[in-house]
Amino acid sequence: MPRDLVLTTTVNGEPVRKLIPANRSLLDFLREDLGLTGSKHGCDVGDCGACTVHLDGQPRLSCITLAAEAMDREVRTIEGVADGTLLHPVQEALHRHVGAQCGYCTPGIVMTLTALIDDAGDTPIDDDMLREALGANICRCTGYTKILAAAHDALRSGDSQSGKAAGEIG
Ligand code: FES
Ligand code: FES
Repeated sequence: MPRDLVLTTTVNGEPVRKLIPANRSLLDFLREDLGLTGSKHGCDVGDCGACTVHLDGQPRLSCITLAAEAMDREVRTIEGVADGTLLHPVQEALHRHVGAQCGYCTPGIVMTLTALIDDAGDTPIDDDMLREALGANICRCTGYTKILAAAHDALRSGDSQSGKAAGEIG
């Protein structure tokens, strides 16, 4: 029998304290224990990116991350990306470009792109960097053209605020 532990962490800015089995995955903790079902079960073995969340600002595959790793750290999920009713520029751009069809991969893609953009600071992000980052997220519907267009668009909209530059889609 797995031992239990008391997990204290912060999820989308809210402190959380819960008794969980020590072998609980972060994805199951978020979905089953906290009811945050935006992060998706895709492959459950670290291949598809549908479960991507941020752990201390870095993208993490929550299906292969123990919830215990979030102890005293900051978790952000897709539910914590929008500011109330105000969508993040990445979400807005995906919506504008119809970058989601079934939408199953979309939460993971949003988390990957927001981490990349937030982490880059003043470093310009080019098309290769976007493609490499999105290589961690499998989409079976869109063919990626619209997702990449949305990613470039989100960068451009951030441009006016942060001075970041984006390359054009090849
Ligand atoms: S569900 Fe986690 S990588 Fe596929
Ligand atoms: S929109 Fe369906 S898997 Fe990406």
